[in-house]
Amino acid sequence: MAGRPVDRNSIAFAGLGSMGAGMAHRLLDAGFTLTVYNRTEAKTAPLVQAGACRAASAAALAGHGTVMLSLSDEKAVESVLFGEIAAMMAPGTLVIDTSTVSPSYSRAACERLSAQGVRRVEACVVGNPQMARAGKLRVLTAGDRQDAEAAQYVLAALGQEVRYTGRPGMACSVKLAFNMMLGAQIASLAEAVSYAERAGLDRGFVIDILANSGFCSPVLQFRAQIMRTGHYQPASFRAELMEKDLRLAVGGATDLGLALPVTACAAQRFAETVAAAGPESDAAALLEIQAQR
Ligand SMILES: NC(=O)c1ccc[n+]([C@@H]2O[C@H](COP(=O)([O-])OP(=O)(O)OC[C@H]3O[C@@H](n4cnc5c(N)ncnc54)[C@H](OP(=O)(O)O)[C@@H]3O)[C@@H](O)[C@H]2O)c1
Repeated sequence: MAGRPVDRNSIAFAGLGSMGAGMAHRLLDAGFTLTVYNRTEAKTAPLVQAGACRAASAAALAGHGTVMLSLSDEKAVESVLFGEIAAMMAPGTLVIDTSTVSPSYSRAACERLSAQGVRRVEACVVGNPQMARAGKLRVLTAGDRQDAEAAQYVLAALGQEVRYTGRPGMACSVKLAFNMMLGAQIASLAEAVSYAERAGLDRGFVIDILANSGFCSPVLQFRAQIMRTGHYQPASFRAELMEKDLRLAVGGATDLGLALPVTACAAQRFAETVAAAGPESDAAALLEIQAQR
């Protein structure tokens, strides 16, 4: 859709959690001028110190040509984007949403914004907060191809790879597929470590030997390191968000007539982790829950 030209100097960013803060810092490092908003205002301080402007409210982001989001879930997107910003956005505004939501929600969000001439690019990110900070994410885009290309000038600063996947919802589907593998592998690692530990082996020894083997991917090594230290807060990826992603995958698969028994089981384990360790704990805290069984 034709819109006003994107103003490269007016990027707005809502959601400065683990990923959002990393991405926002990266954009500042890359020379962008940023205006930031976060529900918990204290989290804007490091960004303001690094040169960003603080928006007085989410609604104040609406005047920017490009609005980026990194919010925990659909409820947060409803609250921030649709509750405060969307109604005041001008036609042609480019929304780049990096929040992990369901494919169906993403499609609906795209249609709702499109009805007022606002362009939405689904930009799911694969990686951790350190990778976000370093511009090393993998970014999966979906939506109108021209809109995705219009978002490239920002996304190229965030990702070592930016790949277009197709119509709205497609990037979310690939992202959830990644996290299905991640969730099952973290659950499996937690069981393997607790099994060996119960058999009398030292936890650190077992984690080291498993993590340094060909059985462990770099992503699982990252989680294994968190298990090794036992420091689950502040989280790199909260168990609550891991559970959310697995639940979205199971729900979406059910709609497609597909059962995901392993993913459903892993989702249950992360729900138990949240209940026992609290919503702020990293997904790797599943080890502590498993070890007590
Ligand atoms: N962490 C990772 O490794 C990773 C990797 C890839 C993708 N993701 C996805 O990226 C998104 C952000 O993840 P994260 O790890 O950065 O999460 P996070 O640290 O929990 O941050 C969540 C952000 O959402 C905001 N938020 C939550 N509920 C809200 C509400 N009702 N109203 C307004 N703001 C709300 C939080 O504000 P407050 O600060 O006020 O709570 C915070 O800014 C999620 O969709 C996640 O699944 C995460």
